[in-house]
Amino acid sequence: MVFMDSNALGWRPLKVNTCEILQENDQTFGIFQISFLNILPKASFSGEQLEQLDEMFEWLVQSCLDQMREKCELFVLFSEMHLVCNMLKLLRALLNVDNLIANQNSETPVQVDSIQMQMTFLFAILWGLCSTIRQVSRPSFDSHFRNLVDGLIKGHAKPPGFKLGRNNMIPDSNSVFDYVIDPAKQGAWGKWVDQVSHGPGGVAGLPGGGDQYDEEVLIIPTGETVKQTYFLNLALTHSLPLGVSGPSGTGKSFLTNSIVRRLSKEKFITNVINFSARTSVTYTQDVIMSKLDRRRKGVFGPAMGKKCVVFVDDLNLPQKDECGSMPPVELLRQVRIILTNYMDHKEMFIFSGLIMDIGMTRKTRANLNSLMCSW
Ligand SMILES: Nc1ncnc2c1ncn2[C@@H]1O[C@H](COP(=O)(O)OP(=O)(O)OP(=O)(O)O)[C@@H](O)[C@H]1O
Ligand SMILES: [Mg+2]
Repeated sequence: MVFMDSNALGWRPLKVNTCEILQENDQTFGIFQISFLNILPKASFSGEQLEQLDEMFEWLVQSCLDQMREKCELFVLFSEMHLVCNMLKLLRALLNVDNLIANQNSETPVQVDSIQMQMTFLFAILWGLCSTIRQVSRPSFDSHFRNLVDGLIKGHAKPPGFKLGRNNMIPDSNSVFDYVIDPAKQGAWGKWVDQVSHGPGGVAGLPGGGDQYDEEVLIIPTGETVKQTYFLNLALTHSLPLGVSGPSGTGKSFLTNSIVRRLSKEKFITNVINFSARTSVTYTQDVIMSKLDRRRKGVFGPAMGKKCVVFVDDLNLPQKDECGSMPPVELLRQVRIILTNYMDHKEMFIFSGLIMDIGMTRKTRANLNSLMCSW
């Protein structure tokens, strides 16, 4: 499909596409913002809290995107719209919105705490919107983010509903990327390295109770393994697709394999595909289909009551064809797009999780920029 500006055509097409409508109304992100706020159950979020979220979005999102675009080196270039969607998906998962929706008609619906909600918003900005910032640019982004949240940037004053006091702000002894909301202490931040759990291999509490210790694997818990485990668990619990990128040899495949292997067999069907330069699209399709049952003509899915998790290792390796695309990756992209758009309802889940390990050598980073744009 080719996108052309209607001015360049010389005539106005009968159908105007969504991008144009959004551009004309200057509502590029507003539409996501509004639809996110609309799904939040009124039983758990007060009107004031919805207003606070709305204000924080206006206050922080565009400024962080501008800083990233103008001043930061990025791992992978994503469109701003994609980053905003990512951030809202992460926020939805962190606030456990799906559970809140399911319980909104119960007698005592859970009330969300305003302080925790605002802290979660900051965390979602850092990891949903800004996680592609490379190490070299993180110090400059760190100082921008802190100034922004302190209301020191002109034209971005703190909104009246922003309630975080000094104790609830991200401590300034390290980078903002070194902290996570402390699960053990209400309203406080803790360092990733201090969250190293004492469970088996430093990784505990996998969804679906799959916590048997793999005797043969010794994982040395570090800040990075905690971070990776945290996001993998979140992705598995909330059925989010997740790409893991980072320097070579840092344990991306090792840790993900170990987590996937330890998932409960009663609740998950796992499928690990190792991509190589010679991986073909037919092979990829065969491996994916091999773990699925035929439900009816043309419809496949995992065994009833289970979720299927696909881990694709070394996503960047397949050779490019003469048009510059990587057919196995295209297949995954289309599977993912089709599933998000048409199949993403509870019973007909084909892939509930798609985890990809992307090695990050200098050569592959350039390839990734074109590859990842529409994920
Ligand atoms: N936290 C850790 N604990 C124990 N061993 C580790 C850890 N991190 C890495 N290793 C070791 O380093 C090796 C290389 O890790 P791995 O293959 O997972 O790297 P990778 O990040 O996937 O690299 P690439 O980008 O090249 O795919 C593993 O086989 C494992 O032995
Ligand atoms: Mg690897």
